[in-house]
Amino acid sequence: MFLLPHPLRLLLFSCFLTALHAQDAPDPFEASVIDYAPLTNVECPDFSTTSLLREWTPQNQTLHPREQEYVDSRAQNTLPGAWNSWLGNGSRMGYDLSATNFTWPKIGIALPGGGLRAAQYAAGALSGLDARNETAQAAGTGGLLQVATYIAGLSGGSWITGSLFFNDFPTLHNLVLGDGNDLSGWKLDLPFATPDGTDIFSANNQAFYGSVLWSVRAKAYKGIDTSLTDPWARMISYHFLNQTSRANFFTNDSAHGAGQLWSNIPEIPAFQQYMTPFPIVVSDSRPVGSNLTTALDLESTVYEITPMEIASYDPSLSAGMNLTFAGTQLTNGKAVNGSACVTGFDQAGFIMGSSASLFNQILDFAQNTITGMSSSDSAGLLFTLKQQLQEVRTRADDVANWPNPFTNIKTSTFQDAKVNWLELLDGSSNGANIPYDPMFVRARNLDVIVTLEGSADDANNFPNGSSLITTKQRLSTLLQPSHQQFPPIPETPEDFISMGVNARPTFFGCDPTTLADYLMVIYLPNAPPINGDDPITNTATFQLTYTPKHTQLLLDAVQKLTIEGFTPNANTPDPNFGTCLQCAVFDRARLKSTPVLTRSDICSKCFKQYCYDPQNPPSRNELPNRKQVFKDPDPMGLTSFLAKNEFNFIGGLVGLVVLILVLIGGLIWWKRRQKKVFYKRLTQIYEAEAFAIPVYPTKGSRPGSQVYELPKHHGEL
Ligand SMILES: *[C@@H]1O[C@H](CO)[C@@H](O)[C@H](O)[C@H]1NC(C)=O
Ligand SMILES: *[C@@H]1O[C@H](CO)[C@@H](O)[C@H](O)[C@H]1NC(C)=O
Ligand SMILES: *[C@@H]1O[C@H](CO)[C@@H](O)[C@H](O)[C@H]1NC(C)=O
Ligand SMILES: *[C@@H]1O[C@H](CO)[C@@H](O)[C@H](O)[C@H]1NC(C)=O
Ligand SMILES: *[C@@H]1O[C@H](CO)[C@@H](O)[C@H](O)[C@H]1NC(C)=O
Ligand SMILES: *[C@@H]1O[C@H](CO)[C@@H](O)[C@H](O)[C@H]1NC(C)=O
Ligand SMILES: *[C@@H]1O[C@H](CO)[C@@H](O)[C@H](O)[C@H]1NC(C)=O
Ligand SMILES: *[C@@H]1O[C@H](CO)[C@@H](O)[C@H](O)[C@H]1NC(C)=O
Ligand SMILES: *[C@@H]1O[C@H](CO)[C@@H](O)[C@H](O)[C@H]1NC(C)=O
Ligand SMILES: *[C@@H]1O[C@H](CO)[C@@H](O)[C@H](O)[C@H]1NC(C)=O
Repeated sequence: MFLLPHPLRLLLFSCFLTALHAQDAPDPFEASVIDYAPLTNVECPDFSTTSLLREWTPQNQTLHPREQEYVDSRAQNTLPGAWNSWLGNGSRMGYDLSATNFTWPKIGIALPGGGLRAAQYAAGALSGLDARNETAQAAGTGGLLQVATYIAGLSGGSWITGSLFFNDFPTLHNLVLGDGNDLSGWKLDLPFATPDGTDIFSANNQAFYGSVLWSVRAKAYKGIDTSLTDPWARMISYHFLNQTSRANFFTNDSAHGAGQLWSNIPEIPAFQQYMTPFPIVVSDSRPVGSNLTTALDLESTVYEITPMEIASYDPSLSAGMNLTFAGTQLTNGKAVNGSACVTGFDQAGFIMGSSASLFNQILDFAQNTITGMSSSDSAGLLFTLKQQLQEVRTRADDVANWPNPFTNIKTSTFQDAKVNWLELLDGSSNGANIPYDPMFVRARNLDVIVTLEGSADDANNFPNGSSLITTKQRLSTLLQPSHQQFPPIPETPEDFISMGVNARPTFFGCDPTTLADYLMVIYLPNAPPINGDDPITNTATFQLTYTPKHTQLLLDAVQKLTIEGFTPNANTPDPNFGTCLQCAVFDRARLKSTPVLTRSDICSKCFKQYCYDPQNPPSRNELPNRKQVFKDPDPMGLTSFLAKNEFNFIGGLVGLVVLILVLIGGLIWWKRRQKKVFYKRLTQIYEAEAFAIPVYPTKGSRPGSQVYELPKHHGEL
């Protein structure tokens, strides 16, 4: 028996308690937990008259008709008013728009990954661009959110995207901190994996594990292969969806977001009134069979998920699947059996979980390592898990498993044309952590992409431009025919750093030779406070708990950063930044106006300071007295408590991974337990069975067939 550190032993132990509790549960399949299970064997639409797939080529690329309808209606009915209240007649920028013949530009907002740091960074920055925030409005930056046509999220950025929609697009402070009323906030002081605190045996934690476990089992019971992404998806839902409050967190009074579907976003009131940008989430895919645990290459298909479809505009696929029927495996666009369609697979938590699923990079089954754990600990743990998981899995455990709707489509170019499942991964897995791909799609025709850059690249968790470089490379090689191009940027992270453009607002692509060259990227990176204070916004990606005080201070600090701009060689805000941001957002409309409007003096001055000019690059030296090292703003809070605690790892990456593994382990153990006639004392179970290798037949993996051998129960799922 290998040695596990004490806390790990306790954690593993907990799953057996969990399982035992489940045995005593009055009605394990009560509605609150089974809604996570998709409906299988649903009647398919008539394939002779309807198609669930759209296919195109880069030359005749189109958007989903309902996306087009949304974007057009919003442009016609909502945006003119929003533009007018933000920019008015343009006098602030030095224009007279009432006398100009122009159309408003098309704007997208990109929210990158990076766990809770990135999600909170995005929230603070969006607040700084929100007309509903009085401070942002006064600064002239508030209003940009209202004129955006698209908002895209990746990983941690997908959490805030989902959260905004499933809470009906409230103001950001209310969304994250709660409003003391209907909105419960993100409750980030409750750890994802151990919400009732470090006592994993507490009744509340056990009830939580029980609910999570049962909802995942309900899905597995439908014969749809589950993975680590599923319990993860459930845990995420407790924080970002709208059905969990502090009062009902540990109860089964709420479905905790199970049953809330991404394809139902169009029913949300703010969406119905065209009050929101159109949401998109990005997920990467691992070529099936490659088992990669390292970064993906650029050729790997990048998917996007909208409320209408899961699609890829990569030239190699150029196809989209009706999201309502996602989970249905199609061959040549048709279901093998017309009565075997699937609905309800697009659980909101699972969509966010698919975009934020980087387990394959944390758990390296080939090398027997878990990132952040000593090799002896991870080797032993993974050996055991591998043995156990192999018995019940027919698919990968470390990715989000999606039945493939694109089988036999684009066979000469699509990497997964011959397989029945797709393996979706964290959207950052190919090195591009910003959800740019959908925004550059030619048919979307964006003029400006505003990047709220909360990526952590350097040792202090600040960005260094590497995602922009990766995306630019992907666009200029593989995506030329299908996507617009990236504007000029520094060529290496080292250049980003030495020029300082990763540490203050920067506008890329201000002066194209022709409009077809590239669009404009407004880059608002996470950076130290300009006044020389200690930074509090550069937390680690795997910090998975925050005290309410830290969250509040973080939001305020990021909002400040977003509206302040910078003054070269000084530690003071730029009072004109709001105007400069307006100039940047409007500039493509100026270029497209007939006749072309000359750039105003005010805007020219702005551009001199904020635009990146490759011929005349700026320098980091213009940003004096910036402190880089994170300082905990709430040292008496949770973080330091946990740091002193023997369970300190629980709030972090390893704890999360271990707990999820344990939940899966619990699932398996529960199954095994069904065959036991008697039960042993818990200590013996731990010693004798926890790491024993169960032997069970493995069933087929076709959708519709039952993969897990789960016990019979009353009622139909
Ligand atoms: C695009 O062209 C291909 C063939 O070149 C065709 O199969 C497809 O239906 C077309 N798609 C659209 C959206 O027009
Ligand atoms: C533009 O609006 C500002 C403020 O609302 C006003 O003072 C100014 O006269 C207007 N300019 C023109 C040309 O209408
Ligand atoms: C305004 O622009 C449209 C095309 O964008 C053009 O057809 C029209 O002539 C322009 N009107 C004026 C007054 O310049
Ligand atoms: C909710 O249901 C699950 C699954 O049956 C169970 O494990 C858990 O203990 C229940 N929670 C409560 C508070 O009863
Ligand atoms: C959560 O959001 C959904 C979709 O907007 C809505 O139908 C539901 O009423 C909301 N639930 C709560 C508890 O606010
Ligand atoms: C990936 O893993 C599967 C199952 O363990 C195995 O059959 C396959 O050969 C592996 N593929 C590669 C390329 O290693
Ligand atoms: C998905 O397919 C169903 C059945 O054909 C159809 O009613 C629905 O409108 C489609 N949804 C989208 C977003 O295309
Ligand atoms: C199609 O699926 C339904 C539901 O699972 C099943 O009852 C039926 O036997 C299947 N038909 C064929 C031809 O496989
Ligand atoms: C920049 O970020 C990338 C990705 O996070 C990292 O691998 C690289 O080492 C960083 N380079 C520098 C110079 O900071
Ligand atoms: C606006 O932002 C300020 C500063 O972060 C914050 O204190 C205030 O609560 C926000 N107001 C709204 C309505 O979100």
